[in-house]
Amino acid sequence: MATVAMRVYRSFCPSLSTRSIALRSTTTVARAVGVSAIKALPEQVKIVEVGPRDGLQNEKTIVPTEVKIRLIDMLSEAGLPVIEATSFVSPKWVPQMADQVEVMQGIHRRPGVVYPVLTPNLKGFQAAVKAGAGEVAIFGAASELFSKKNINCSVEESLQRFEEVTKAAKEAGVPVRGYVSCVLGCPYEGKVLPEKVAEVAKRLYAMGCYEISLGDTIGVGTAGGMGEMLAAVMREVPVDALAVHCHDTYGQALANILVALQMGVSVVDSSVAGLGGCPYAQGASGNVATEDVVYMLHGLGIRTGVDLAKLMDAGAYICRALNRRTSSKVAQASCKL
Ligand code: HMG
Ligand code: MG
Repeated sequence: MATVAMRVYRSFCPSLSTRSIALRSTTTVARAVGVSAIKALPEQVKIVEVGPRDGLQNEKTIVPTEVKIRLIDMLSEAGLPVIEATSFVSPKWVPQMADQVEVMQGIHRRPGVVYPVLTPNLKGFQAAVKAGAGEVAIFGAASELFSKKNINCSVEESLQRFEEVTKAAKEAGVPVRGYVSCVLGCPYEGKVLPEKVAEVAKRLYAMGCYEISLGDTIGVGTAGGMGEMLAAVMREVPVDALAVHCHDTYGQALANILVALQMGVSVVDSSVAGLGGCPYAQGASGNVATEDVVYMLHGLGIRTGVDLAKLMDAGAYICRALNRRTSSKVAQASCKL
């Protein structure tokens, strides 16, 4: 894709270096040549629905287990291929996820759908497997202070813990996804260097994570920052193994996702109704709404397998249960029809 966009860009700006063209072509070429540049986008995108985990973990009031189960079942019926169901973390740290076993045992698993869970350490991994999890996710960070606040250890210590998880997972035949948080900024350290993100992503990939999700945990990133960070990570990890996970605090998530798609990423995390946040990241608002991502992707002619109407039903259901207004622009707009 980059090659096509770069070729077109070079024809407009022959004096620029290849690196400048690589960084600028994906965005500027669309302005220069209109829709023709969009042809290079992926034909299909895998959406990883994180609402039941990232969305609900931040809720102050404990959500009844049956509501969580119903939400996951509705998301399964909407055609989402991956639904992050819960976390096997300490209930003292995240009380909302304390019913993880009941959730895993209560959901109706739709054939072909994957239900990963977060596991910060071996204890979490063992409990997850016992509860029937078929896939787990480990979650590191590109920021030392965030790592300390979120999982109570340094980045290096976390990577050592994750090695234990990936080793056990390999033996058990359980696929592992890896997160890198704070890839475009940290609530405690501010700017995060793309090279640091690339280094942590590389370590997670090397220890066996099949996919690395790059998290803009506090939603401060811009399209420019996303392009720069991805370019650094793509030097270390194949683009096919990358996902983006954008919170939408500054309203930049869709633009950032579009840049990622233009750079070859074809896995996008999102949360139904735009629920979400991290209890250990001050100022983190919800994830980009799945409804809005699906609407954008379908508008670009990209297949997702998701039924938008059923997805909106799931969003309406959880918003009613939480007594809150949806953060999805698409759902808000449709309510007026
Ligand atoms: P710790 O206190 O350092 O752990 O917490 P410890 O090993 O010293 O153990 C202390 C107690 O916790 C012991 O129990 C352990 O058994 C227990 P006690 O003896 O006191 O009764 N414990 C556990 N219990 C249940 N499950 C476990 C577990 N491990 C230890 N797995 C720990 C370290 C990692 C456990 C803690 O910091 C923790 O649970 N943190 C999770 C925080 C979290 O879930 N944050 C949100 C998810 S990350 C996120 O949202 C970002 C993401 O969306 C991407 C993005 O947006 O960027 C993924
Ligand atoms: Mg998140």
